[in-house]
Amino acid sequence: MPNSLTFQTSSMASITWHKLYPSVAEAETDLKPRMIKRFVIEDLKVALVRTESSFYAFREACPHLGESLHKGLVNAWDEVVCPLHFYRFSLRTGEEQSGKNCSDLTQYLVKYDEKGFFVGV
Ligand code: FES
Repeated sequence: MPNSLTFQTSSMASITWHKLYPSVAEAETDLKPRMIKRFVIEDLKVALVRTESSFYAFREACPHLGESLHKGLVNAWDEVVCPLHFYRFSLRTGEEQSGKNCSDLTQYLVKYDEKGFFVGV
């Protein structure tokens, strides 16, 4: 069985869903709340975070100078904090929260159903 499926979105952008876990229960077991885990999907480094209420996926390189965000932390406001210069990015919106002139996170879609737990890139 393939671990990825490709869909066309209404904007004609192509999203490929990559299966990271067989179920959401396995994702929850592997990923403790506020833990950041890195996956490599088709040469793309993707960070996955679980909060108390949701999962978030985003490009793992910090938009500032490229530090690995999986080495950072997730604070109580559901922001990922870069370990190098401590810029903060909202997990919900991707926006930089420290008032710096910096690009936002590149976010990816997460979905899970009876077929497994997927990230769309
Ligand atoms: S490299 Fe992440 S804040 Fe500078």
